[in-house]
Amino acid sequence: MSFSEVPRIRETPPGPKSKELMELRNKYVPKSVHHITPIFIEFGDGAILKDVDGNIYVDFASGISCLNFGHRNFEILSAIKEQLKKYMHLCFHVTPYESYIKLAEKIALITPGKFSKKVLLVNSGAEAVENAVKVARWFTKKPGIIAFENAFHGRTFMALTLTGSVMPYKYGFGPLMPNVYRFPYAYCYRCPFKLEYPSCGIECIEYIRNALKTSISSDDIASIIFEPIQGEGGFIIGPKEFIQGLRKICDEYGILLIDDEIQTGMGRTGKMFCIEHNDVIPDVITMGKSLGGGLPLAATIGRDDIMDAPQVGGLGGTFCGNPVSCVAGLKAIELIEKLLPNVPKLGEIALKRLKEMQEKYEIIGDVRGLGLMLAIELVEDRKTKKPAIEKRNEIITECYKNGLIIIGAGTYKNVIRLLPPLNISEELLNKGLDILDKVIKYETNNPKS
Ligand SMILES: Cc1ncc(COP(=O)(O)O)c(C=O)c1O
Repeated sequence: MSFSEVPRIRETPPGPKSKELMELRNKYVPKSVHHITPIFIEFGDGAILKDVDGNIYVDFASGISCLNFGHRNFEILSAIKEQLKKYMHLCFHVTPYESYIKLAEKIALITPGKFSKKVLLVNSGAEAVENAVKVARWFTKKPGIIAFENAFHGRTFMALTLTGSVMPYKYGFGPLMPNVYRFPYAYCYRCPFKLEYPSCGIECIEYIRNALKTSISSDDIASIIFEPIQGEGGFIIGPKEFIQGLRKICDEYGILLIDDEIQTGMGRTGKMFCIEHNDVIPDVITMGKSLGGGLPLAATIGRDDIMDAPQVGGLGGTFCGNPVSCVAGLKAIELIEKLLPNVPKLGEIALKRLKEMQEKYEIIGDVRGLGLMLAIELVEDRKTKKPAIEKRNEIITECYKNGLIIIGAGTYKNVIRLLPPLNISEELLNKGLDILDKVIKYETNNPKS
């Protein structure tokens, strides 16, 4: 599909067909399932989406980073079609198949760490996190897990407990899991200790160290789980010293380091895994999102002694490592490896433009990002840093009305994140940024609230 005219807004979104589908949705789908936009999509191609009313958008969401290689990637589609001619599902526990093993081998080879690794394939990011905790507990024979404020690890009970944000994820769903200990993350724009990086001496690491002396015994802690860039939390980039500090604590106290790369992995930050920017080797890694080439697939990867610890039959699931997802995943990794060299350049273009916007618009308190994982944090006042929540929501709405699909993030609900496909053209990237710039200008000159 090639569109000469992108974006193209024929009917102010949501158009009549989207509205009609939304009525049906409201009748049959629980209201707690949230949508960022009320737009129903008919067709996707690369970094472009066409809705059911004929509107065409630039896509800066990539299905929340599940399509780092773009919509309907031809090579992935061909791999899926070939697999469909053979079989769709067998269940790895009944009759194993080659694509699972090949993908496990490929993942073991590309993940950081030169030691032998084993790979468990599952269906979703949350399930990968659950299994990371299961193997860490079994291996260490310890129950406790350290997680961070602003973290997002998924919606199943252990993953939800590890998630560090109450609304909307945890509220009303308790009781949650025991033995989870939460610490402040290195959110330098809003330092939990009111210090400045790097003169802070990485107080957030010292705080954990102190707690291990005064409040929790390391004999009770199996693992520390963290995101090298907190995704849902607002694209908060953990400084290298913070991440290295976590590794050191783990080494000193016999704790496993679990690196959640579900959003940051698959090339999103310009390296296959974000942790590669930090010269740290985790014990266990979780992957998901783009790993399945657009189909549901996730993985828990770890040192072989950790992954082999539980009893036979202790890990798995009916659909885990579905063969169609596995072939799509193998192709997806191959494509990402080819796309990696483009990511820093595209990221620089976008970061520069976001910084230019920050100079023009007071509402942009912070600009941050790595590769094509970029965000702006919106504030009502740069000094008080009061989160500009309503404006953030208005900007996202005006963006889609002008032909750009872009999404929010942030514990304080004031962040806009950019997750375009890694193969977006410079032209489309700039078109999307033009819309964002125009909308922020309009919204900040025309305050509605
Ligand atoms: C870092 C991280 N971990 C875990 C998850 C959960 O993944 P899923 O929604 O596939 O369960 C997400 C989803 O956004 C994530 O960003």
